[in-house]
Amino acid sequence: MLNVINISKSFGDLEVLKGLSVNVESAELFVILGPSGGGKTTFLNIVAGLLRPESGEIYIAGRLVENSRDIYTPPERRNIGYVFQSYALYPHMTAYDNIAFPLKMARWSKKDIDKAVKEVAEMLNIRDVLHKKPAQLSGGQRQRVAIARAIVKRPTLLLMDEPFSNIDPVLRENVRVEIKRLLKDLGITTLMVTHDREEAYSLADRLSVLIDGRFAQIGRPDEVYSAPCCVEVARFLGYNLVSADGSSLGFRAEDVEIGGGDLSGEVLSSEYKGRYWVVYIKYNGYVIKAYHDAPIKEGAKVKFSIRRVLEMR
Ligand SMILES: Nc1ncnc2c1ncn2[C@@H]1O[C@H](COP(=O)(O)OP(=O)(O)O)[C@@H](O)[C@H]1O
Ligand SMILES: [Mg+2]
Repeated sequence: MLNVINISKSFGDLEVLKGLSVNVESAELFVILGPSGGGKTTFLNIVAGLLRPESGEIYIAGRLVENSRDIYTPPERRNIGYVFQSYALYPHMTAYDNIAFPLKMARWSKKDIDKAVKEVAEMLNIRDVLHKKPAQLSGGQRQRVAIARAIVKRPTLLLMDEPFSNIDPVLRENVRVEIKRLLKDLGITTLMVTHDREEAYSLADRLSVLIDGRFAQIGRPDEVYSAPCCVEVARFLGYNLVSADGSSLGFRAEDVEIGGGDLSGEVLSSEYKGRYWVVYIKYNGYVIKAYHDAPIKEGAKVKFSIRRVLEMR
């Protein structure tokens, strides 16, 4: 459905994207995960046609819309929906008019617009607030209006930029599950970007990790999480990393077992996480993160072992 080949983009001397390629399948929810400032928004803007790359090609539903030279299809003719990070709702328009806007631009009849707006509002549970303006809506309602506006035309491709970052953390998980369900039910092909690992794991059919302007790894969340390709990805995913004999060893906090084992270190602190504790252990000049079912006193000497270690380049 989306086919991106070798996209590069610089701002002045700053090379933000260095040859990105990705294919997103029909009805797939694909997530780009990467640190802030890593070029995620830039990439979405290029796919949307709001920015042009220096090199590369983009196909949407098999149609070439960008080749960085003579071929360039403007955003309004790409049949995409875009949920911007800040939602970018028109403040002077009601929720209804915001959602109706893309249909008006496409010169739909009043009757068809009304039907489509009400139908999508129903799906997103915002029928009761259609008469309100953005300032009168909660953060969650604003997000729903933005999503409604982006999908009301049933786009070929939906782009979402950190869609859950403005949602109250208490509600975030539920909202996530609900929106994923909706996208899946409607079979909408979605490309989403986020810096939030947990969000990427829980939503993505597949994800790619964008580091230093490149997709370091593409795969299912469980594949990437359990077998990061390289030190950069492991570090970004929160792995413990130590070097030994010229290679790097990576292991996860849940694979460190405290109480017995060949390794020993000193506890720096314990951090309460609700369901478990994170115990920080000073070991050989490193600070090792370990999950544990109880706190351990600062300064205590502990023995530990590591269940699973990956050797990485
Ligand atoms: N229009 C622009 N002009 C100059 N630099 C920009 C512009 N847009 C983005 N950048 C820079 O490009 C880098 C990537 O930005 P962005 O795509 O917004 O990252 P992300 O969305 O991953 O946080 C940042 O260093 C940012 O400052
Ligand atoms: Mg961004």
